[in-house]
Order: sequence, then C-alpha cells, then structure tokens
Amino acid sequence: MTFLVLFLAYAVILSVGLWRAGVRPSTRDVHSAPGPSPTRVLIVGATGGTGRMLVDHALERGYEVTALARNPAGLQRQHPKLHVMTGNVLDRASLDAAVRGQDAVLSALGHKRYVGPTRILSDGTRNLMDAMKSHGVRRFVCETSLGIGNTAGRMGLYYTLFVIPVVLPFYFWDKARQERLIAAGGLDWIIVRPGALTNGVKRGRYRLGPDVGSFLWTVRISRADVADFMLNQLTDNSLVGTAPGVAQ
Ligand SMILES: NC(=O)c1ccc[n+]([C@@H]2O[C@H](COP(=O)([O-])OP(=O)(O)OC[C@H]3O[C@@H](n4cnc5c(N)ncnc54)[C@H](OP(=O)(O)O)[C@@H]3O)[C@@H](O)[C@H]2O)c1
Repeated sequence: MTFLVLFLAYAVILSVGLWRAGVRPSTRDVHSAPGPSPTRVLIVGATGGTGRMLVDHALERGYEVTALARNPAGLQRQHPKLHVMTGNVLDRASLDAAVRGQDAVLSALGHKRYVGPTRILSDGTRNLMDAMKSHGVRRFVCETSLGIGNTAGRMGLYYTLFVIPVVLPFYFWDKARQERLIAAGGLDWIIVRPGALTNGVKRGRYRLGPDVGSFLWTVRISRADVADFMLNQLTDNSLVGTAPGVAQ
C-alpha cells in the first residue's frame, strides 16, 4: 500500500514536472510573416515510422526532399526528387551539408534508448537549430508528444500512470527539454504533439489544439496523419509558435 501511494505521488509529480518543463501557451512569442512557399525540405528521422511517411507524402506533394539518415540504406526509397544524406544529429558538422539550401526542416527524431538519462533529442535538436540558423533556414516543424507542457496527462491514464513514469521518464524529460529549446530558439517553429502512434492509413481528418487528448483514455493517430499535419505546417502560418496536440 505504501509503495502504491509513493508510486502514485511520483507519477503525479512527474506529470507536473512535464507540465512545467514543456511548452505552455504563454511561450508563444513568434510572429511569422508569410513567405514564399517552400520547395526544398529536409526530413530528419527519415528512416523512422513518421519519417518515412513524411518522405512519401512530401514527394507526393512535389517537394524536393532531402532525407537525413544515419544509415541511408534503411530508407529503402528511390525517387528523382529524393536526396539521401548521411548524418547524425549529435554530430553538428554532419548537419551543415544537409541543412544548407533548404526552405524548411521537419523532424520526426526519436530513439529507443529509454534506460537512464538521455539528451539525444535535446542535444540533437539544438545542433539542428544551430545549423538552421547558420544557413538562414527558419521554418521548423518538430514532432514531440502529447503528455508534455500544457498537454501533460492527456495521453490517458495508462501512459500517465505506467508508460511515462515506468518506461519513459528520462525520454519524456528530454522531450520537455527539447520543446523548451525549440521555443527559445528564435525560429518559426511549430511543435506537433501526437497521441499514441499507429501505422494506420492517412484519413486526413484529425482533432488538433491544446485540448486534444484525454486524461482517461489513450488517444491515437496514425503516423500518416501526423505526417500530413506536419506537412500542412510548411505553408500555414496560423500555428507558428504553438505546440498543438493532434489525435483522431
Ligand atoms: N510511438 C508512439 O506511440 C509515439 C507517440 C507520441 C510521440 N512519439 C514520438 O514521435 C516521434 C517519431 O516516432 P516514430 O515511432 O514514428 O519514429 P522512430 O521509428 O522512433 O524513428 C526515429 C528516427 O530518428 C532517427 N534517429 C535517432 N537517433 C538519431 C541521430 N542521432 N541522428 C539522426 N537520426 C536519428 C532514427 O534513425 P535510425 O533509423 O538510424 O535509428 C529514426 O529515423 C518520436 O519522437 C516519438 O517519441 C511516439
């Protein structure tokens, strides 16, 4: 019984910490002026689940796509408008060539190193944003997750009381740090916070905003729909400087 009470207290404190550490509405301080529509986009995390959807949908929309991959063979895609570049977000020098000449960057960075403190997402994102600033690339669309900042608790009870505190505490803490860096980075940013990801098909319909998600149930969205929403942010300025949740 004591263990259960202590565990619940830990889970609640972690959620409050993620609420405080992540981006909240008051952090909106970007006012992007409409610019020319982007034609060249860099996709980071291109070999991952969302990343592959981003590559496919960006090519369908006619973009000139550069995919950053640690292992280009993992992408398994070929297209006249697809350029694959080897790079690692933790190696700042490897990012310059990928970022140079782009109109926008989309990131679906993630990893599976759940045990122990990690800074892969925050350090990698800082390197990426440094490279963007060096090369004058302003639009940054980055996937994080529901459960952070003003969406803390909105992944549902299973995530709030089990997955995040037991499996992903360090991972989510790094995501909150990543969000803070993005919000303070001075770029035209949009943080995209999906619910639990599925490999379902694109429906093109989803709910979005700060109230998306449930404190009780796990909300879901397909990676294809997340990619669709992220690509919409390349030409839509209405959500610049915000961190909306997205779910079906
Ligand atoms: N799974 C969920 O239910 C869920 C829910 C909400 C949010 N999210 C978040 O959504 C994001 C995307 O998730 P996903 O499952 O679609 O993607 P994923 O399959 O986890 O793919 C992550 C991508 O990041 C790349 N990456 C990792 N470390 C890198 C590094 N140092 N340099 C360059 N690239 C690196 C991976 O490359 P390699 O192929 O080389 O490993 C891979 O392409 C993640 O941030 C995840 O936490 C997930």
